Amino acid sequence: MPSVISITITFGHTHQFTLKAQRKTSKFHDVTIANDDQLAWLPHWSSELYRVAKNVAYIFCGWSTVGEFQTQLTRAGFKIKNVLVWHKNWLGMGNNFRPNYELIILAIKSTFVTKSRNLSNVLTVRRLSPKKLTHIAEKPVALLEILIRESTNVGDIVLDSFSGSGATCAAAQRLGRRFVGIELSPAYCELARCRTRFGQAI
Ligand SMILES: C[S@@+](CC[C@H](N)C(=O)[O-])C[C@H]1O[C@@H](n2cnc3c(N)ncnc32)[C@H](O)[C@@H]1O
Repeated sequence: MPSVISITITFGHTHQFTLKAQRKTSKFHDVTIANDDQLAWLPHWSSELYRVAKNVAYIFCGWSTVGEFQTQLTRAGFKIKNVLVWHKNWLGMGNNFRPNYELIILAIKSTFVTKSRNLSNVLTVRRLSPKKLTHIAEKPVALLEILIRESTNVGDIVLDSFSGSGATCAAAQRLGRRFVGIELSPAYCELARCRTRFGQAI
């Protein structure tokens, strides 16, 4: 087991509303995310997360799953320190209260304070445009950098156990942190490998 200093996790998006591009012209049309349609894995994953975490974990989720995530993380031993809002500054699809945010649970094992004193719990970072997205759920590196900078030091290890495009790894690399990314899809693993091998935190 690596001596994990701090962890950033990004998964558990929607549950009830599996993330899938609706427009037929979208490059992600018919692309779904493995295991995003059920949360059977959540209790065991939460325990494992608690086992390897040094102190802090960030978990991205949607409004319909945030309760279940909080329940299982608490059962695993974490304290819920905060629930942050990622304001995407970009209207998602739909006709009715179109989605423009994601939630980020801040779970801790012991005490934690951010390095900056004036940080809001609403983080406004524009979502990547569809043209630039390499993964349907890709997070902006600038957003991940805020979380990593605020909770780790140079040389610490950042883990993303659902690393997708490797955005968390790229952000960690840019900030001089070590990183571990775990991803089911070989294609996304390769993407993350290229992205970090050349230091392209894009
Ligand atoms: C929400 S996406 C993560 C997106 C990523 N944060 C980014 O910025 O690109 C979740 C990822 O977890 C992967 N995944 C699903 N089940 C997994 C498993 N059991 N182990 C590892 N990765 C898994 C999916 O293939 C998907 O790429």
